[in-house]
Amino acid sequence: MIRLAVRCEPEQAEFVLAELTVLSPGGVEEVAGEGFVEFAIYGAEGELPDLGEEEAVIAGGTVAVEATEVADDWADRWRTFHKPLLVGDPDRGPVVWIRPPWEPERSGAAEVVVDPGLAFGTGAHPTTRLCVEALIGIARSGGPFGPLADLGCGSGVLAIAAARLGWEPVYGCDNEVAAVEAARENAGTNEVEARFERVDLRAGLPGLAPTTVANLTAPLLEIVAAGLAPESLPETLICSGLLATEYDRVVAAFSPHGLVETGRDQMGDWGSLVFGLEHS
Ligand SMILES: C[S@@+](CC[C@H](N)C(=O)[O-])C[C@H]1O[C@@H](n2cnc3c(N)ncnc32)[C@H](O)[C@@H]1O
Repeated sequence: MIRLAVRCEPEQAEFVLAELTVLSPGGVEEVAGEGFVEFAIYGAEGELPDLGEEEAVIAGGTVAVEATEVADDWADRWRTFHKPLLVGDPDRGPVVWIRPPWEPERSGAAEVVVDPGLAFGTGAHPTTRLCVEALIGIARSGGPFGPLADLGCGSGVLAIAAARLGWEPVYGCDNEVAAVEAARENAGTNEVEARFERVDLRAGLPGLAPTTVANLTAPLLEIVAAGLAPESLPETLICSGLLATEYDRVVAAFSPHGLVETGRDQMGDWGSLVFGLEHS
């Protein structure tokens, strides 16, 4: 197992993380030090992105790159930064408790036990949290509920959280085999009925559901928008994975389909958008 570390100045960190998150479906470890932030991704030799030997240019800035072989304790290292997370405000409605299997339960919360394996999705990433917040917001007002599709499901955390909040049936897809495997396993652990399959969204869209969540990147969201068919438009669409500087391009991509922005949120440099289908 290789640990590929990228060290940058704190001012670059959000942008570097944004790019690494796209490159690394396995999630990103973050270590802050004096005057630097280090991000690390793990993978087998040949699975990791080729960032060069010692330096790379990421998000327009130069970063230091170091690849080191890690011993078999890498799974334990993963555990040190995979912490449980409470999303939502207990005084305002449902909350979602996302936890790795080795952390304790929390009563009164919609619980999602997630072991991402090699897939993206501990639940802790701001883009995932923004999507869970949006799902909670909809659930708080009685839902739409019904079927839900999760595009770019990673570990399945959003589909499983949605099932816990009341959506059913839930479906997810990802182009990474490891993601589909992790999502299926996590659905089993959570005893949630869910269907996951491998789909490359660049090659075509699966059937969407009345509620669709897409935590992708702005360019991929544009590809999704371009592939929408009038007969299978979602009634409610939650998008994240975009940077807060990219709201306009994502709104512009979906609005020709009658999907009208009904909400937006921001966490750090990351943004989310919620759309509702306007009926003519
Ligand atoms: C930002 S992660 C979101 C994962 C999960 N939904 C979450 O919120 O934690 C984006 C996911 O999209 C997947 N993805 C990237 N490109 C894709 C494509 N062309 N087709 C399908 N999935 C893709 C990645 O493998 C990754 O799991």
